[in-house]
Amino acid sequence: MTSQTPPEPVAGDEAVIDPSMLVFARDMRDAFTRMQMEHQFAVDEILTKVSILRQEFLHLHQYNPIEHVGARVKPPTSILEKAIRRDIELSAESIRAGIQDIAGVRITCSFISDTYRVLETLTSQTDVRVIQIKDYIANPKPNGYKSLHAIIEIPVHLSTGAVPRIVEVQIRTIAMDFWASLEHKIYYKYEGAVPDHLSETLTDAAEAVARLDQRMEDLHHEVKGIESGQPSEVWHAPDISEDVLKKMWEQAQASR
Ligand code: GTP
Ligand code: MG
Repeated sequence: MTSQTPPEPVAGDEAVIDPSMLVFARDMRDAFTRMQMEHQFAVDEILTKVSILRQEFLHLHQYNPIEHVGARVKPPTSILEKAIRRDIELSAESIRAGIQDIAGVRITCSFISDTYRVLETLTSQTDVRVIQIKDYIANPKPNGYKSLHAIIEIPVHLSTGAVPRIVEVQIRTIAMDFWASLEHKIYYKYEGAVPDHLSETLTDAAEAVARLDQRMEDLHHEVKGIESGQPSEVWHAPDISEDVLKKMWEQAQASR
């Protein structure tokens, strides 16, 4: 075979693929790879922010408001399935604009007050644009689901310049997270048609979670004084020699 010309598609012969379709498939694959990569970078940006908050908080207050951080980028097949379900045009631009949870970060805190504090600190940063906040803690879903959801946009700095990318951040307590992961498993096991008695038990459990969170919060406030004064595990004071310290003191005195 010396000819470079691909064969013409033959009617009724499914084995022959239209060459323009191959080009299209390759372009789509490239667009989706790029989309995955950019959203992974957006997740990385948020994870860095959360890590800084965590360490600074620990240093300043000897207290860590964040128990656990998880992240994921939705795989292309799930993105496409969701786009088809929602009747979104199957182009990279429409999908990016229409599906806001391609990049997801979940932050688990010990106490309810910490969830609000983390949300406020993260969303008040100047490079973070808040698109939407849903407070399912103050306004739980009918099934009892509680969590703070923030859809935010942050710039991702590529070689060609910065592009804004969207990340869905979920913030909740350990107890809320425990409930949500079990509810999620049950929901999937029954494909959405959860038997009434299980739904009722889950709603009861959600109320127990709310009571537990409140009691833990009360206890936390009561013992707050005990925590302060503990040395930070992350940062230790720099080991500055006496000579250098003396020089710093002299310079500080001279500049008064
Ligand atoms: P999605 O299309 O699924 O993203 O939902 P939405 O656009 O209505 O947004 P919403 O903020 O309600 O939910 C977003 C995400 O929160 C979901 O993908 C789940 O991860 C989580 N979530 C929302 N509701 C529930 C719930 O009732 N149970 C559990 N386990 N998770 C939930
Ligand atoms: Mg989702």
